[in-house]
Amino acid sequence: MKTEILTQYRTKIENDYRKKTKLSKAAFKEAQLYVAGGVTRETCYWKPYPVFVERGEGCRIYDLDGNEYVDYNNAFTSSLLGHTPPQVVEAIRESATKLLGAGAATQSIHQFAKLFCDRYSSVDKMRFCCSGTEAVMYACRAARAHTGKEKIVKHIGSYHGGTPEQEVAVIASTRGLTSNSGIDVIATNVYDRQAMKALFEKHQTELAGLLLNGVWFLKGDDTLMFLRDLCTRYGVPMIMDEVMSFRLAMGGAQEYFGVEADISCFGKYIGGAGLAVGAFGGREEIMTGFDYTTQSEPIHQAGTFAANPVTVAAGIASLKTLTPKYFTRLNNLGNRLKAGFNKAFNEIGIKGYVMGEGSLSLMGFGELEMVSDPRRANVPEGQAEVARLLQLAMTVKGNYVAGSGTLWTTTGPMTDADIDKTVSDLHKCLAEAKPVIAEAAHNLIGE
Ligand SMILES: Cc1ncc(COP(=O)(O)O)c(C=O)c1O
Repeated sequence: MKTEILTQYRTKIENDYRKKTKLSKAAFKEAQLYVAGGVTRETCYWKPYPVFVERGEGCRIYDLDGNEYVDYNNAFTSSLLGHTPPQVVEAIRESATKLLGAGAATQSIHQFAKLFCDRYSSVDKMRFCCSGTEAVMYACRAARAHTGKEKIVKHIGSYHGGTPEQEVAVIASTRGLTSNSGIDVIATNVYDRQAMKALFEKHQTELAGLLLNGVWFLKGDDTLMFLRDLCTRYGVPMIMDEVMSFRLAMGGAQEYFGVEADISCFGKYIGGAGLAVGAFGGREEIMTGFDYTTQSEPIHQAGTFAANPVTVAAGIASLKTLTPKYFTRLNNLGNRLKAGFNKAFNEIGIKGYVMGEGSLSLMGFGELEMVSDPRRANVPEGQAEVARLLQLAMTVKGNYVAGSGTLWTTTGPMTDADIDKTVSDLHKCLAEAKPVIAEAAHNLIGE
């Protein structure tokens, strides 16, 4: 019985999907001939095959079959101005016709840097790179150079990018890594104050930095203040990964939660809606480590495409668009989505969570579980399958999210009506899935 109802539901949802996305299916088949796995990153793939996107405009994307989706993925959250924002496209066009690449100093770089220094009181000097991963990597290097110590403390489950060190306690697969990978990272629950105090006391001679993700794991309580005090007391730089949380306010999570870090990392949004970008900055005494005009042995930073003129031009145009009013709008839309999703779960009587701050919403079944070893993460099979099919059902209804279907972001061009339609779609999809959930994942049925 259990498998029968799930099989029927799967057949229906997958058939609906296949009917709408025939050209995507064909494209995936061809892609598999030349691209390992058919897509270039895991989260762009889902069963039975992913949608192939052709173009985007405002908050919508269009696939090869001409289907329209309200995009809640937004280039992995980076397009917070929506797709092809005219002012950014114009800045790109203008820059590209003047200087496409430059292995040279350009004035636009310090104009870009100034925009960060003006927004963040904790940032005196900046450096640019090509991704959020690189930004965090260099920030950790700066902290190590500054302190002369090696260990970085981070929150379990908190994502900071794709180097082996950054993947500790996040990614389950260790294939291709050496046994020493991540040896200088301590992953722990930063909310456990007693444990954090004990850890700082025990490892004080080794700690180079506390790396925090400005958004998911920091609630608006005083944990951040506690961690700030701990860092100050032990002389450990606080590294705030603002790659995602930059979108919360003019001064990112630091302004939003009222705390100042020592080093900040940026990416995604600062490149103007989809270009490869990363940046980091911080206090003068730390960033001076990169200053070859004063240091006998400066910290090395390279990167062929770092601060590429086109990316910088797009970034400046984006940052100028991102005013306090714009952030308020983004956050209001996100709060409307969260409230609507929560209401849908409650009304249908299914246990789910909707977390996150402002324009970022993390949604899933049951409760979000943080585990120190991701290989021990244990989502029951039935629940994982229902979650997959629910995401597919939402896609069929014209709502686009990434592979795992958990992260929903709002963008400037969205309207209340777009959000309300998505909420209503979730309501319908949950109602349709409820009998299946009752059989295949009955622990998710509310009282
Ligand atoms: C908080 C955070 N840090 C770092 C990264 C890595 O950025 P990138 O994908 O540009 O390397 C991400 C990417 O999602 C992120 O969310």
